[in-house]
Amino acid sequence: MLKTNNCGELRVEHIGQEVTLAGWVNRRRNLGGLIFLDLRDRDGLTQVVANPEISDSAYATADSVRSEYVIQVEGTVQHRPAGTENPNLPTGEIEVLASHIKVLNTAKTPPILIHREEDEAEALRLKYRYLDLRRPRMQRNILIRHRAVKFIRDFLTSRAFLEIETPILFKSTPEGARDYLVPSRVHPGKFYALPQSPQQLKQLLMVAGFERYFQIARCFRDEDQRADRQPEFTQLDLEMSFVEREDILALTEELMIGMVNHACEKRIKATPFPRLTYAEAMERYGTDRPDLRYGLELVNLTSVAGRSEFRVFSEAVAAGQVVKGLRAPGCSNYSRKQLAEVEAVAKENGAKGLISLALEPDGTARSSVAKFFPDPLMVELLAAAEMEPDDLLLMAAGTPAEVNAALDGVRQEMAQRLGLISPDELAFGWVTDFPLFEWNEEENRWDPSHHLFTAPKEEDIPLLESDPGAVKSDQYDLVCNGNEVAGGSIRIHQRKLQEKVMELIGLSPQAARQQFGHLLEAFEYGTPPHGGIAPGIDRLVMLMAGERSIREVIAFPKSQSATELMANAPSEVEPRQLKELHIKLDLE
Ligand code: AMO
Repeated sequence: MLKTNNCGELRVEHIGQEVTLAGWVNRRRNLGGLIFLDLRDRDGLTQVVANPEISDSAYATADSVRSEYVIQVEGTVQHRPAGTENPNLPTGEIEVLASHIKVLNTAKTPPILIHREEDEAEALRLKYRYLDLRRPRMQRNILIRHRAVKFIRDFLTSRAFLEIETPILFKSTPEGARDYLVPSRVHPGKFYALPQSPQQLKQLLMVAGFERYFQIARCFRDEDQRADRQPEFTQLDLEMSFVEREDILALTEELMIGMVNHACEKRIKATPFPRLTYAEAMERYGTDRPDLRYGLELVNLTSVAGRSEFRVFSEAVAAGQVVKGLRAPGCSNYSRKQLAEVEAVAKENGAKGLISLALEPDGTARSSVAKFFPDPLMVELLAAAEMEPDDLLLMAAGTPAEVNAALDGVRQEMAQRLGLISPDELAFGWVTDFPLFEWNEEENRWDPSHHLFTAPKEEDIPLLESDPGAVKSDQYDLVCNGNEVAGGSIRIHQRKLQEKVMELIGLSPQAARQQFGHLLEAFEYGTPPHGGIAPGIDRLVMLMAGERSIREVIAFPKSQSATELMANAPSEVEPRQLKELHIKLDLE
C-alpha cells in the first residue's frame, strides 16, 4: 500500500507516530513560511504542514502542488498548536508534519470545485461526473447506497431468499412503458428487449420451485424522464411462494425499517406503517402517493357546496362532479398575491380555479362566495371543513380526478409554506386495494392499473364479466414522503384467469399466446400461489440521503433528456455496424 493510514483516521492517540498518507490536495494555503495542505481521500481530510526548517524538499514540493494533485506524504502526527484546532473536523486536533512529499500525479484546474459546491449547471456536473463524485456529499450518497444494498442482501439471505440473476436480453412484451430494443445480428429483423422489470422471470422462478427469490435488478424503461425516473434504474425485486398479502407487507416493512436504521440518519415517522386503501388515499389526500409527514387532509364539501347559490359549485354537483377543500390553519390573513400564487399551483395541476374563504379571528367569514352561502349553510360549510377562527379554506370543483390532482398540488404547496415538512423524517405508508383496471379513454379499453399479472381479489372475480371497473386487486404500493417507493401484488397463478385478464385488456388469444405463451404454458405445470414486490432502490436511497433527484444517488446517471453526457451516449455508430445488424436508418 502507498499509505499507512486513511485521511479521516488520525487522532490525538496517534501523536508521535510516523505515517504515510496518500490522496488529493483539497486546498493549499501558504501562510508565510508554512504551507498547509488539506489532504483528502475517501475517508476524510487531514491537515499536512510543510515547514522549510524541517524539510526543504517537502516545502518546495508543497509549494508546487495545486488542487487535485495526487500526492503521498510521509511525516509525523503532531498536535495542532493551541487555538488552531478545528472542532468541525474529526481529525481537527492533529496535523501531519511532512518530512517528504511526493507528487504521484498532477491535475489540471478542475472545471468544478471539489471542496465547495457551487450552483453549476447539472450538465457540467454530469460531463465531469468523475470529479463531481469526488465531492463529500456524493461520496456519502454512494456510501448510503452501498449500506442499503448490503443490508438488503444480508437480511434476505437470513430469511432463506436466494439471489438469482435473470437475463438482460429478453423478449419485448407490453408491460406499461416502451421497451428498449436490441437488434439481433444472427436473426435478421428480430430484436431482444431489455427488461422493464424481471416480472415474468421471477414468476417463472416460483414455478421452478425456488419459493424465495430476490435480485438487485436493473430495469429499463423508455419513458419521459423526471427527477424520480431514469431510463435504467434499480429495483430490489423479490417474489415468494405460498404467501398472502400480509406476509409480503410484514417482510417488506421489517426490511425497510432495518435498512433505514442501518444506512442513514433519518427517522421513520410511524411504525407499523399506516395503511390506506386506494379509495381512502384519493379521498383524503387526492393522490395514491400521499406525503404522510403532515396532515392537511382534504375535506369533501360536495353535499354542502352543491346546495349553495354559487353556480360553479351547484352546477358542478348537479352534473355529478365534486367539491373538495383544504383547510390551511392560521392563513386567514393571506394577501391577494399569496392567494394568486396558491391558485396558480391549483391551475398548474389542472383546476379551473381555486375559491378561498377566510375565517377572520373574530369568526366572520370573508370570501367572494360568502354571499352565496346563506347563514345556516355557511355554518354547515365551516363545520364540514372543521374551520377554526384564523383559518383559510381553499376549495375546488370539478371531476374527482381534476379536483384531487389540483388539491394534491395545493396541499404540497401549503405544507411548504407552513413549514410542515420535516427534512429528517421518513413517513412510510401502504396503499392497498387498487382497482384492477383503469379505463384508457384514448384506446377505449381497460388497462391494468399495475401490470397484467396482478390477481383480482378472490371475491371480485365474478365482477370481471359484469363490471370490470369495480374489480379490486391485491396490489399494494409503499409510499414514502410523497413518492411511490415500491409496488407489488399477489399474482394470478391459473392460466384461465390470466387469459381472462388478457382478454379484458384487449389482447387477442393469438397475441396473448405469442407474447406470453411461455408463462401461460408454465401455469399448467403446477404453479404455486405467489406474490412479490419491487422497491425502487434509487428512490429509497434518494430519500435516505435527503436528495431531490435520483440522479444524485446514481454514480453515472442519464440527463433529463436520457443522455449520458460524459461518454456521450446514445451516439451514432459505424455504417458497417448497422449493416451487420441489417438496419437502414430512416431519419426523416
Ligand atoms: P413498478 O413498475 O411499480 O413495479 O416498479 C416498482 C418500483 O420501481 C421504481 N421505479 C422507478 N425508479 C426509477 N426510475 C423509473 N423509471 C422507475 N420506474 C419504477 C418505483 C416503483 O415503485 N414488476 C413490478 C413489481 C412487482 O409487481 O413485484 C414493477 O416493476 O419505486
